Amino acid sequence: MDLNEITAAVRQHPDIDDALVTTAISPHSGEEELLVYAVPSGSAQRWGRLVETATACLVEGMAEQREALRTWRDFWDALDEISVLVMARTLAQLGAFRTPEQPVSVDSLMQRCAVAPDHEPLFRQWMHVLADNKILRSGPGPDEYACSDTLSATELDEQVEKRMAALVVDGVERVFTDYFVSSAAQQVDLLRGEASPLPLLFPDGDPTLAETFYARNPISVVLNGVLAETVAKAVELGPTDRPVRILEIGAGTGATSTTVLSRLPAERTRYCFTDVSQYFTDHAKQRFAEHTFVDYAVLDLNNHPGDQGFAPESFDVIIAANVIHTARRIDHALERLRPLLTPSGLLVAIERTANTPVQMVTVGFLEGFSYYEDQRKESNLPLLSPAGWVTTLQEGGFHRIATLPQGAAATTELAEHVILAERSADDPPVARRVKLHSDLAMLLPDPNASFHILPVEQIPRRPDGLVDERSLPSPWDEA
Ligand SMILES: C[S@@+](CC[C@H](N)C(=O)[O-])C[C@H]1O[C@@H](n2cnc3c(N)ncnc32)[C@H](O)[C@@H]1O
Repeated sequence: MDLNEITAAVRQHPDIDDALVTTAISPHSGEEELLVYAVPSGSAQRWGRLVETATACLVEGMAEQREALRTWRDFWDALDEISVLVMARTLAQLGAFRTPEQPVSVDSLMQRCAVAPDHEPLFRQWMHVLADNKILRSGPGPDEYACSDTLSATELDEQVEKRMAALVVDGVERVFTDYFVSSAAQQVDLLRGEASPLPLLFPDGDPTLAETFYARNPISVVLNGVLAETVAKAVELGPTDRPVRILEIGAGTGATSTTVLSRLPAERTRYCFTDVSQYFTDHAKQRFAEHTFVDYAVLDLNNHPGDQGFAPESFDVIIAANVIHTARRIDHALERLRPLLTPSGLLVAIERTANTPVQMVTVGFLEGFSYYEDQRKESNLPLLSPAGWVTTLQEGGFHRIATLPQGAAATTELAEHVILAERSADDPPVARRVKLHSDLAMLLPDPNASFHILPVEQIPRRPDGLVDERSLPSPWDEA
């Protein structure tokens, strides 16, 4: 194995500025192992600091909100159970499943219950949830369901009322409960397309309910804080010869914008607040009037930004809080967003990453939760998992991607993630966007050989230019 050749190859890696590859005998295995000393490139260091900032803020935020998060989690779990009963009650009210053991296809059920064709994906989600909860049985045909016991609207109604009465709620839980109750009461009309879900979320056109929900539920408090700190760090590390340009898409009620704007230096930032609806940009113009570095525009994720007045490479950071999933095709939306970023530009998103019964009887009726035409058609679920986001972003041309939180426990607790993704400096083709570790493994004569990557600030050199190997750290020092 020619170490000089490997060193030269490692130095070519876009994430590495300088490198030295050497070998040493492991005190553990007694075998010769490969040591890769690598000086991360400027952009790799910046990425490391952004992820570090986001992680530290998340840990701190979750600790601060521990009690509120637990209350919220319990509240949501209880509402999930009630939502399943609400679905069953609605079917009973629509006259479905009156005969036990009689399989019926989803198509004929939709016809019989006069379900609006636009709500077919949602209706199918309901069927799955009801079967998962043993209220219905799926089969024998692939698209068929039956019940073991007749669904009784009166009994189910009593169960829903009893469970709702047992909920002890206050603050933001109270606000969401009111929304939940008014949505639950309208399920038949919503499902038939005879009522719109928007006035439920914006009663009399008032955004207070939605804003309270997006700003004050403890998960949003934590994740908006993480997003804001990460963006502030990106501004700190960003260009100093001009303002850092930030685009927020689907900014809506401004719940996330408020947290972000309060952390940004006015003299170093230009912020573009956008939404598909002018209702929100008009509202934001008044609300954020004191922030003179903010512009307002309408931007639709489903259309080309160029046709909407947005030039390529005109932003250093794009913020997207709970909006990318509303795109008809996430892959197309990402392909449109990425070129808006400068090379090494950063996308910071928040996305719910679990599909819940509560969603299916509330916001699930909104257009953005059901008109997907991309890979989600296969699962028939509007929200991607963290792994789904990583794959989609990789395929969408982003080269460094992180989803936070990472541990399984925190993931379950929040059911929502902050997603960081960087446009690469040279937009390399997908095949080259692989992780450093696997890249290096491929350079070795034996790809399964054990090796260590040791990040160092510089490769120490003596006055004669030769590497001073004795000054390099050993991977076994700490052990
Ligand atoms: C769930 S809300 C996001 C909440 C928002 N971040 C906030 O703090 O209020 C989704 C937002 O995306 C916007 N939206 C929906 N479809 C969109 C599209 N095609 N392009 C851009 N924004 C869209 C909606 O108008 C709404 O404001």
